[in-house]
Amino acid sequence: MDGIEVLEATVDDKPVMRRLLELYAHDFSEFTGTDVDARGRFGYPYLDVYWTEPERRPFLFRVAAKWAGFALVRTGVPHDMAEFFVLRKYRRTGVGEAAARDLFARFPGDWQVRQLEANPGATAFWRRAIPFDFAEAVTAEGRVQRFSSVAVSGP
Ligand SMILES: CC(C)(COP(=O)(O)OP(=O)(O)OC[C@H]1O[C@@H](n2cnc3c(N)ncnc32)[C@H](O)[C@@H]1OP(=O)(O)O)[C@@H](O)C(=O)NCCC(=O)NCCS
Repeated sequence: MDGIEVLEATVDDKPVMRRLLELYAHDFSEFTGTDVDARGRFGYPYLDVYWTEPERRPFLFRVAAKWAGFALVRTGVPHDMAEFFVLRKYRRTGVGEAAARDLFARFPGDWQVRQLEANPGATAFWRRAIPFDFAEAVTAEGRVQRFSSVAVSGP
């Protein structure tokens, strides 16, 4: 999709990320059965460390200057797409695929993406969005695709 920006989230963006994570957790509660806490929040225990641990990298997606989603990446061997989310109005418009490919190119090397068996739409998405040969396996936690990405060379 044209016009999508993938921005590394600054610590000033943390409140935005926290709110978008609530929407993501609500979507996931359909699969996991998770309840909100007494304050009505799902919460995300690893949020703060995305600005303190250098291997954790937070990204926000923007379309026409509006927030459209986010990714939380754990860099390493392999890089891991810890969380990935597109706001509903932007789904099935190519935002997820464009953002995922941007991130794969930013972090060349071995990758894994994981999804719950209860979330087959995510599996269909990753099979389409990964532009490299991948191996798929079923684990105790769900399904995983493993592959190697290469950086996109400039013009
Ligand atoms: C999964 C998710 C990230 C997909 O984002 P998206 O921006 O809608 O994806 P795209 O528009 O780039 O989709 C690209 C292709 O992936 C496939 N795809 C995407 N979502 C799909 C779905 N729900 N069911 C089946 N195929 C799907 C389609 O082939 C699609 O192409 P098409 O629209 O031309 O048919 C989004 O639905 C989402 O945030 N879901 C909730 C959170 C989640 O499940 N995250 C993934 C955790 S592993």
